[in-house]
Amino acid sequence: MIKKNILITGGAGFIGSHVVRLFVNRYPEYNIINLDKLTYAGNLANLRDIENSPNYTFVKADICDFPEMQSIFGKYSIDGVIHLAAESHVDRSIRDPFLFARTNVIGTLSLLQAAKSAWEKTGVCDRLFYHISTDEVYGSLGSEGFFTEETSYDPHSPYSASKASSDHFVRAFHDTYGLPAIISNCSNNYGPYQFPEKLIPLFINNIRNGRPLPVYGKGENVRDWLYVIDHARAIDVIFHRGTPGETYNIGGFNEWKNIDLIKVMIRVTDRLLGRSEGESEKLITYVTDRAGHDLRYAIDSGKLKRELAWEPSLQFEEGIENTVRWYLDNQEWLDSVTSGEYQEYYEKMYSA
Ligand code: NAD
Ligand code: DAU
Repeated sequence: MIKKNILITGGAGFIGSHVVRLFVNRYPEYNIINLDKLTYAGNLANLRDIENSPNYTFVKADICDFPEMQSIFGKYSIDGVIHLAAESHVDRSIRDPFLFARTNVIGTLSLLQAAKSAWEKTGVCDRLFYHISTDEVYGSLGSEGFFTEETSYDPHSPYSASKASSDHFVRAFHDTYGLPAIISNCSNNYGPYQFPEKLIPLFINNIRNGRPLPVYGKGENVRDWLYVIDHARAIDVIFHRGTPGETYNIGGFNEWKNIDLIKVMIRVTDRLLGRSEGESEKLITYVTDRAGHDLRYAIDSGKLKRELAWEPSLQFEEGIENTVRWYLDNQEWLDSVTSGEYQEYYEKMYSA
């Protein structure tokens, strides 16, 4: 199945930039249109290596602007959508839930409606709207069990509530209008180009700079970590071979209690900086817990393995070493994304 004009939204963000890079390099016969508003989280420096590729176009636009989305579907004859654009940070959603409802719900609805009206004219055969979602829609687990595709939705944060709502709209467009749509729900990603507000890049940067490491609560929450390039590989597989109407869970089978993961990061970062291993443990600072903090996420990605033969390729030890090394080697990138708005955010978040 050849899909020629692929719209990737949020392609200047963390995961989106890895998906754009993979598709531009792997599918020279496709035109990849990267649509991004370039919020604080979007950075064209994430794509310097492919920005001059003949099959790549960048469009700066807001997914909430429905007339603009309609015009982009017409102008580029879009055949397929991989929708990643979103507000993605839980802590920000607690401070500004309206922004998350606007971008994640209204923005997704605006894209769905644009796809529907464009594809009503051209026919839906070989078209696909692929929505990238999160395991957080399933809520929180106790110490046992995994989220499967059948787990009921039970979001707790404004972020996860907005993602759950967007997932429901995608299913509604599939069931009501016959829009060919797929959803995947992935666990925590880590790797290069992640904005340093999320746990791993924030802590690597703080260890390097000798700043406090703010551990929420007792550090006992558990997350299932997946290397971002493995997520991009899963998106490639699902986009090309997934079944419309289906949902796929993506995870690393790689659970870590926050405090244990933080100690691994400290060890690796100290070693790579030539410090004595564990020296930076003194930076660990227990702070007030995140409101509504989900205890544990763990994904069962068995369906994706059984049906589409995807599994994670990278061991965590190698992934975290690559990641720490990348942030230490890319100080210029970190400086560029932590100037301006970031300082204000950081002061507000961590001054209490
Ligand atoms: P990110 O915050 O790094 O990037 C989001 C991108 O969306 C940015 O480039 C931003 O400029 C763009 N954007 C935001 N609002 C926009 C708008 N109104 N119009 C157009 N573009 C806009 O996010 P990420 O971590 O790369 O996550 C990408 C997607 O994957 C999100 O939908 C997120 O919910 C989902 N997801 C993330 C993770 C994770 O661990 N990071 C895990 C599972 C699912
Ligand atoms: O599970 C998938 C989700 O993973 C994605 O949908 C989200 O977009 C992504 O941001 C991520 O959400 P989390 O809230 O799990 O990620 P974050 O990196 O913000 O936090 C990871 C854990 O670390 C969480 O238990 C909170 C804790 N934490 C985080 C920060 C930023 C701290 O203890 N201190 C911190 O300063």
